[in-house]
Amino acid sequence: MADPNAKAILEVKDLRMYFPVKSSGIIRRTIGHVQAVDGVSFQVPAGGSLGLVGESGCGKSTTGRLITRLYEPTGGSINFDGKDITKTSARGLKPLRREIQMIFQDPYTSLNPRHSVGAIIGAPLAIHNILPKNKILPRVQELLEIVGLNPEHYNRYPHEFSGGQRQRIGIARALTLQPKLLVADEPVSALDVSIQAQVINLLQDLQDEFGIAFLFVAHDLAVVRHFCPEVAVMYLGKIVEIADRETLYNRPNHPYTQALLSAVPDVKQAAVGGRRERIRLEGDVPSPINPPSGCRFRTRCPLAQEICARVEPPLLQIGKRHKVACHFAGELGKHPDKPVTASLLGVDDSGTPDPGASPSTDVGNEPGYSDTWFDLERRTMASA
Ligand SMILES: Nc1ncnc2c1ncn2[C@@H]1O[C@H](COP(=O)(O)OP(=O)(O)O)[C@@H](O)[C@H]1O
Ligand code: SF4
Ligand SMILES: [Mg+2]
Repeated sequence: MADPNAKAILEVKDLRMYFPVKSSGIIRRTIGHVQAVDGVSFQVPAGGSLGLVGESGCGKSTTGRLITRLYEPTGGSINFDGKDITKTSARGLKPLRREIQMIFQDPYTSLNPRHSVGAIIGAPLAIHNILPKNKILPRVQELLEIVGLNPEHYNRYPHEFSGGQRQRIGIARALTLQPKLLVADEPVSALDVSIQAQVINLLQDLQDEFGIAFLFVAHDLAVVRHFCPEVAVMYLGKIVEIADRETLYNRPNHPYTQALLSAVPDVKQAAVGGRRERIRLEGDVPSPINPPSGCRFRTRCPLAQEICARVEPPLLQIGKRHKVACHFAGELGKHPDKPVTASLLGVDDSGTPDPGASPSTDVGNEPGYSDTWFDLERRTMASA
């Protein structure tokens, strides 16, 4: 098990990606932006894994693509293995491509159907001039064996394999250059349930054996539960809650996390007082072109009050390894009546700025955890 206090191999701070929306017609002007990722901060410890979870469209894949630098971010910073890679030029990205690899969701479209499996897995070795030609095949066969495929099948084509086997090929390709970080974008979502566990077990074995760090993207909390010691929940381009696994699954404090968890059947019920009622979220996810003011979740939140429309809740650290962005943060059924954030933000309970207040300036967007945090029950700062 990776040490949760290990040095971060990846640190992302206030990351933003706004895609321009163009008008139709001959002169295509920019008429707005899709705020796909809007101020996201987190760390992935070396050899560890962070789960990134949220409904479709919340910005998970965009976050993954920013980290692999398939996109240049609109704002914020990405630090990988001690280097700032936010603005690395195309040339500087070549060595980076060796160290950060991606596994994609769809094993049917992510492999070139006209190339043999050996060519697919061996291509990075040739491109990066890593091995002489006669050493490539033995390495390909070794990789096939590592991912549980027959090493003699190197000259077969992707269509000759099942979905689960293809995903193993995608994993072998990602391992070819011995990366330090794998961004796995819903790596099992397209697979049969019976195959999902096998592929997750393979990833787990690879992590244990090679010490690869993972950013593991999923759309539901069940998938990352066994893989990730730390999990971040995203909603409309922002992280709304992030915590160590035990805290997030047993004592979630954000209404959105609580709703997502209520749909997961295998989560321990005891911690929240017996059987968990399924919480149904009303309505659809709003458009990231015009997200709601204040808290983005407010249009679907059963607890929303006036302050939620006026003031954005900061991602507040409320425990040793627990942060949540909600004015009414609290365990299920124990949410406070008054906003916990008001005094920190210098507003009254309805969110109106209080002229006499002295708001806390360090309610920030820093990645990682601080040694002190805001104790929700006592409403004061606390430390271990
Ligand atoms: N290249 C792009 N251009 C414009 N909008 C995009 C682009 N890629 C993603 N988006 C939009 O950004 C939002 C987040 O998308 P994505 O990161 O794919 O979410 P997820 O992976 O969580 O389903 C969505 O509203 C999506 O439509
Ligand atoms: S800040 Fe308000 S709207 Fe947002 S999650 Fe909390 S209670 Fe709901
Ligand atoms: Mg996606």
